[in-house]
Amino acid sequence: MKLDHDELAAASAPLNRARSMPAGFYTDPEIFAREREHLFLKHWFFLCREEQLPNPGDYRAFDTPGGPIVLIRGKDEVLRCFANYCRHRGSILLEGEGNCGGRIICPYHAWSYFSDGRLYGCPDMQDAEGFDRVENGLVPLSLDRWNGFVFANFSRSPKPLLEHLGDLPQRFASHRLDRMRCTWKITLDGACNWKLVLENAMETYHTGIVHKNTVGAQQSRTLETRGDWICIQVISGRSIATLPGAPPPFPPIEGLDDDAKMGTYFTVIFPTCQFAVAQDSMWWLNVTPVSHERSRVEIGGCFPEDMLGRSDFAEKAAAYYERWELVGREDVGILEKQQKALASVLYKPGPLSWRDDMVQALGLWVVNNTGL
Ligand code: FES
Ligand SMILES: [Fe+2]
Repeated sequence: MKLDHDELAAASAPLNRARSMPAGFYTDPEIFAREREHLFLKHWFFLCREEQLPNPGDYRAFDTPGGPIVLIRGKDEVLRCFANYCRHRGSILLEGEGNCGGRIICPYHAWSYFSDGRLYGCPDMQDAEGFDRVENGLVPLSLDRWNGFVFANFSRSPKPLLEHLGDLPQRFASHRLDRMRCTWKITLDGACNWKLVLENAMETYHTGIVHKNTVGAQQSRTLETRGDWICIQVISGRSIATLPGAPPPFPPIEGLDDDAKMGTYFTVIFPTCQFAVAQDSMWWLNVTPVSHERSRVEIGGCFPEDMLGRSDFAEKAAAYYERWELVGREDVGILEKQQKALASVLYKPGPLSWRDDMVQALGLWVVNNTGL
């Protein structure tokens, strides 16, 4: 399907004349298939933090638009990522997260693999002509990392992650994100298109309404970026990673630059991930597109490593977890209403506000990168 040409043109007009994207952008399975081909299978996507797999044999399985994959730390301590299926007849090998104890054993006919992906055992295969163990190891994916954040890519020869991130590392240099440690995560299922989640996460137009009982009204400024990411900063001299009313329990990170002291940064690292970077912590919204109308949203929270040793860490960190979950659920709630209404046969794209600049930018990045 092709989106309506006039509606697409209106969506890319200068902001004071621009309209929302056509409904099909969010509701059409063919658009989703195109995004899968051009975005999800070509670009880097965030998986987790390195320290979430501290020991040899630790693994985490992920369902992605390219199928099930598994991240695993080998006996040699190296992190690798593989398609999560057995080379015999394709059973899923690992689920959830855990430690495979050095061998991955297929639950179907018990072929087994080393934690570095090489085939180890394959019972009753002695008659199979031309069977080669070396050729029947797990199928690898490209993997790269920055400051402990691990990304994968289905492309065989992707451009380096650092090129994708552009000037993001400079922007967050003073936050010392390499010292962040993930201490918490939740997963929310949303009956909405993946782009609605990220558009919503890049505007403060809605916060005084949808989040009136939690974070409340906010003001933001848009920052210039280079690379495949966009950024706003919500202006507040205090971290907004906890609810207003009481001061944030943890102190600001030492050595923050003057810009970083002014507020919390909200980004989209295209195509599917948000890093939110505050003065005292960072959290992510990692969106997995499930279908044109379903998304899985993982919210993960991190603190500077020297906070984790405090005797009151768990008690103080709870205020952050509460805020991240409450606001996340409020957002998913409104997005499900929006998705439902976008399916109306009478739907016509509405006009955008100046506060929707990043909503427009996100849509245009998708249009440009999918050739819509
Ligand atoms: S499918 Fe894995 S051993 Fe048969
Ligand atoms: Fe929100």
